[in-house]
Amino acid sequence: MPDRSPSILLGVTGSIAAYKSLDLIRRLEGEGISVRVVATRNALPFFPVLPAEVFSGHPVETDLFNPRRPREEGGGRVSHLALLDKSDAVLVAPASADFIARMALGLADDLLSTLLLSATVPVLIAPAMEEAMYHHPASTGHRKTLLERGVVEIPPEAGPLASGKSGLGRMAPVDRILEALLPVLRTVRPPDGPLSGLSVLISTGPTREPIDAVRYIGNASSGRMGNALARAAQARGARVTLVSGPTDLPPPPGCDLHRVTTAREMQETLESLFPSHQLLIMAAAVSDYRMKDPVTGKRKKDGREWTLSLVENPDILKGLAARKRPGQFLVGFAAESSLDPSLLLEKCRHKKVDLLVANDISRADIGFSSPDNEVVLVTPSGEFRTLPRADKSAIAGQILDAVVAGGWPGHPAPFQENADGHSRP
Ligand code: C5P
Repeated sequence: MPDRSPSILLGVTGSIAAYKSLDLIRRLEGEGISVRVVATRNALPFFPVLPAEVFSGHPVETDLFNPRRPREEGGGRVSHLALLDKSDAVLVAPASADFIARMALGLADDLLSTLLLSATVPVLIAPAMEEAMYHHPASTGHRKTLLERGVVEIPPEAGPLASGKSGLGRMAPVDRILEALLPVLRTVRPPDGPLSGLSVLISTGPTREPIDAVRYIGNASSGRMGNALARAAQARGARVTLVSGPTDLPPPPGCDLHRVTTAREMQETLESLFPSHQLLIMAAAVSDYRMKDPVTGKRKKDGREWTLSLVENPDILKGLAARKRPGQFLVGFAAESSLDPSLLLEKCRHKKVDLLVANDISRADIGFSSPDNEVVLVTPSGEFRTLPRADKSAIAGQILDAVVAGGWPGHPAPFQENADGHSRP
């Protein structure tokens, strides 16, 4: 059971929208979330400090070195980490263009930027700036950098701006900020659920195998199914580690994210993480082949045929199955052009997985880049179950429920080996 209420660190930076942060603090406190505020110097002209202190019940912090701060909270010395210790997430609202740039660059020249450089909890930003600043390639690039690091953006909305113009750039309304933040807090402090206390490792997305400096062998996997599985596992109380090939999708907040490119990088990462997880779901579309000798630099056109020589990649799942310990459960995926039951059963047994999730790639309405899927679940003892077409979130939930229930005739319930209902290595 949680030993304290959820807490966030609210960063307020230099934007006219800083006056709205007061309402945000009240609403957060109303949701039972305790708030510590750190404001940058540029925020202060816009930010009503005293009311914020009254509503949050804590001083608004601005200085890296604050002798007035209690010693156990880092007072009297240059210690910023204490403010993070009790925070489940950091929300920067409003996040000015300047502050977003400083975050992206990893600067640490004031209290808020220093805290963010040390933060290991989820970070959310609610940008607020003039439209031209928002769309400037520099700002776009900085936001992209942050998104790639797992920062969640709560996009601004259109309307009247401080300049008197109208356009995109107003900080998202408080309701939308809460809509984004509350699920993140639920994942950091997971709800009680059938996977509480368990660690789930999920691979997702495609892999890319370089042909030369600019070309690669890839596939059409979007990463949606893996992300949906991550969310479904979090919603059931699990801690989730996501190993993702290159995708454009933002990872679900609250996951421990590991980005990889090639199959061999994915293999190395999964092999090191697998021993500390109880459930592995191998949803990634791993390239079966890589270049025997990738070309150095970019190969130039020379009017002649170009024959590529490929070698097989290791079968990551099979390798992990061979290292499986009692209490670990493996789910594999299979993208097939026909769902012949005997071939699926053969694959399930050959791969030594506890559950195979097969989908039919000959159908355009489901699978790879589609929001929907329809799958057949197969167990090594020969049980089959079709999960009819639904969006990937619904399918992900049903896959996890099937794993949790272990309701397969002749198949032991995977997580019910111990008295507490969870199997552990
Ligand atoms: O053999 P096939 O590619 O159909 O198997 C699919 C399953 O095996 C998926 O779970 C996929 O992530 C995994 N796989 C793997 N390593 C490979 C190829 C596939 O782990 N080299």
